[in-house]
Amino acid sequence: MHLSPDQKAAFERDGYLFFPGHFSAAEIALLNAEVPALYARREACNVREKGSDAVRTNFAAHLVSAPFARLARHPRMVLPVQDLLGEPLYMHQFKINGKMAFEGDVWQWHQDFGTWTNDDLMPAPRAMNIAVYLDDVNEFNGPLMLIPGSHKLGVLEAGHDLKTTSYPLWTIDNALIARLVERAGGPGGFDAAGCYVPGGIVAPKGPAGSMLVFHSCLVHASTSNLSPWNRVSVYLSLCAVSNHIRRFKRPEYIAHRDFTPIECLPDDCLLRQSPVELPWAQGMPASALQTSLEELVATA
Ligand code: SIN
Ligand code: MN
Repeated sequence: MHLSPDQKAAFERDGYLFFPGHFSAAEIALLNAEVPALYARREACNVREKGSDAVRTNFAAHLVSAPFARLARHPRMVLPVQDLLGEPLYMHQFKINGKMAFEGDVWQWHQDFGTWTNDDLMPAPRAMNIAVYLDDVNEFNGPLMLIPGSHKLGVLEAGHDLKTTSYPLWTIDNALIARLVERAGGPGGFDAAGCYVPGGIVAPKGPAGSMLVFHSCLVHASTSNLSPWNRVSVYLSLCAVSNHIRRFKRPEYIAHRDFTPIECLPDDCLLRQSPVELPWAQGMPASALQTSLEELVATA
């Protein structure tokens, strides 16, 4: 699956592309069936919400679960990103974010590249985020919010928030967010039929199986989930191989160190259960927890 010139132009302008219903219900059911066992693991790879047992984020499922390993090599996910970055890709990060019914906490306003460059010494924003929705995402269960066009501003000033949630994040302060939203179209408005027309914040909503591709400098956030519906989504971060990280300050299960280019499987790999390797199926190696402040010599 490749992108059209119009899609590439829309990405350049807005910093994201949305593909409603990109994966079928049967494909998503195979992924969803794996989540309870992954979330039940009492291991570092599961970060739970502050003061609750609900999983906020699970790391590296593509190394332990066959359906997620297939998703990580899926041409419907990888090829559009390869079109945008113009070179082979490796998996920088792989998360299954819970945002569970009643318990899912906020993700404050942030850019992902801020963390990747500050912590991992990723040289340039030549990496992309992809969200694949495992649940229907509606206006009530904490959809991801984006500020269109904010990717064009590069890395913005951020502070390291270690308190608000259970997960440390480089977050952007309210005054700057207000300016960015105003610049992107302000509060939006209502059309003649009374339907809301978005302005400087958009929140792509859609059925389970929808896919969102967004730039690593695009400013984004999500509110807490007070609804009775889970909002489980997979977040994959694909990085251009030549742009691989230069430091292993964060453990490998969070920021991966295997820069081998991803080779796509066939389009029906989820349903036909194509064979995949699962290097961490018997548990994470001790090396995955080791960290270092040493800077790597560039190899690409
Ligand atoms: C993220 O920004 O990494 C996650 C946001 C969300 O799950 O809503
Ligand atoms: Mn993010």
